[in-house]
Amino acid sequence: MRNRLPRFGGSQLKHLFALTAGPVALLFAFISTAQAHTPPAAAVASAHPVATAAGHEILAAGGNAFDAAVAVSATLAVVEPAGSGIGGGGFWLLHRAEDDFQVMIDGRERAPLAAHRDLYLDEKGEVIPGLSMNGPLAAGIPGEPAALVHIAEKYGRLPLKQSLAPAIRAAREGFAVNEQYQKLAGFRHKKMRADAATANIFLLDNEVPAIGHLIKQPDLANTLEAMAKHGRAGFYNGAVADKLIKGVRDAGGIWSQQDLDEYTVVERQPIRGEYRGIQITSAAPPSSGGIALVTMLNILSGFELDKIDTAHQTHIIVEAMRRAYRDRADYLGDPDFVDIPTERLTHPFYADGLRNTMRLDRATASSALPGVARDSAGQDTTHFSILDQDGNRVAATLSINYPFGAVFVPAGTGVLLNNEMDDFSAKPGIPNAYGLVGAEANAIAPGKRPLSSMTPTFLETDDRVAILGTPGGSRIITMVLLGALEFAAGKPPADWVSRPRFHHQFLPDAIQFEPDALSQQTQEKLSQLGHQLKPMKRRYGNMHGILWQTQENNVQAASDPRGGGSAPVKTH
Ligand code: GLY
Repeated sequence: MRNRLPRFGGSQLKHLFALTAGPVALLFAFISTAQAHTPPAAAVASAHPVATAAGHEILAAGGNAFDAAVAVSATLAVVEPAGSGIGGGGFWLLHRAEDDFQVMIDGRERAPLAAHRDLYLDEKGEVIPGLSMNGPLAAGIPGEPAALVHIAEKYGRLPLKQSLAPAIRAAREGFAVNEQYQKLAGFRHKKMRADAATANIFLLDNEVPAIGHLIKQPDLANTLEAMAKHGRAGFYNGAVADKLIKGVRDAGGIWSQQDLDEYTVVERQPIRGEYRGIQITSAAPPSSGGIALVTMLNILSGFELDKIDTAHQTHIIVEAMRRAYRDRADYLGDPDFVDIPTERLTHPFYADGLRNTMRLDRATASSALPGVARDSAGQDTTHFSILDQDGNRVAATLSINYPFGAVFVPAGTGVLLNNEMDDFSAKPGIPNAYGLVGAEANAIAPGKRPLSSMTPTFLETDDRVAILGTPGGSRIITMVLLGALEFAAGKPPADWVSRPRFHHQFLPDAIQFEPDALSQQTQEKLSQLGHQLKPMKRRYGNMHGILWQTQENNVQAASDPRGGGSAPVKTH
């Protein structure tokens, strides 16, 4: 396409296209550049202090980052039930220090085998509201239990039983309701009341409990104990599996024992890219996160952002977001079912082409491109980051999708089911709960994994290693982008996680932004450039980041001030 040249000042212009040339071979040389020595301390950054403590407890007991990841994941399932759980799934990005091996453990949910493309449509072909959101028909086959067993057995040092112990203890002894819990339970209150098992566990007399109220989960403790004793069979076979299937089917769901038998985790090659000397390692499909992140950074690598005024800088970043999210809607889905042009989408030359479609003096209207969408909520999911003293790393983003998932617990299991089926495109062009549209690539099919935005990420230079990610629905990828740009600017984790955020997802065609993200002057300039602005009432996201400065050899960690998490750095 034609490169429309900017119409503003030459002195600004000369900085804009700085980096489009260069040997391509170098861009694909992903040699680990971290220093050989090990970190002086370990760090765990998660959304809940009890889960963070579980991670450090396991590290102190001689476990590695992977054992700690099992402990943190399982404990978050107990103490942050709105965000993730063993009734859901996620992506665990692992880096093993001894051989620089990196892998993404795909524990994403799968559509039940009885699911089909038109599962959520009525006889007229219209989407039936709520069917992919609430109740057992909304739930994919959980992947987190299989992933935890897999990580413990293949990468951990400790027995699964030991790594699950903090979660079992928290489920038996209870966790105290906090503000975050109250907010999300308030958001889903009506639906929570509608399912007796959910209400009995998570509400008090059908109301959102007061801060400090202890929520005990004996059924969940029993289910976790079955996993501790029998591994994956403790969840996918036997008494727990029988109760899961009966509970789901009695309430109109379609799970079968064959679904549970056939569920497997998949080890996938992470998506890789390079931005101004920073190696990017991020989530592979069925997450869209890594591809979209690399596409955006490839586009941005042609600009010297730090030399451009804030309004034009924001404009350029927004235009990169718009283009990456357009591609997300068009191309991405479960790689076991659809061919994804990963190499093309992450290639610098492709980004050159996208960059050439951008006008620097005017917003591109998304309406010039296909698709429709609506607003997104983005209060779901969870992320944690871990670095151990051997230099092993985990970035994990886990989900049951919407807050409290499908708000459905099969009786006697304590397992709150996900509503990840809503991440499929129920009908091409019709937006899901996050306002995201999809096409054929993300249509429902038996056994298929729904497309995700979860973006656990490592960033690496000669002297710095970053581990980061966040929950937040469709906004996850742009939050990680903004965090990565902070890292690129040499800022510490406290800045990555706290910086004010803005977002564009192609459709709706508007810049969504936090109350403090854009000054009045920047807003005016962006409007003049033709952008629609959509100020948000609340801040969003809950990022957890760790930085290891390998030459100075120090470790810093930070949890997002928007959430109630913690990120202590400790020696063990
Ligand atoms: N359920 C949110 C995501 O996977 O993107």
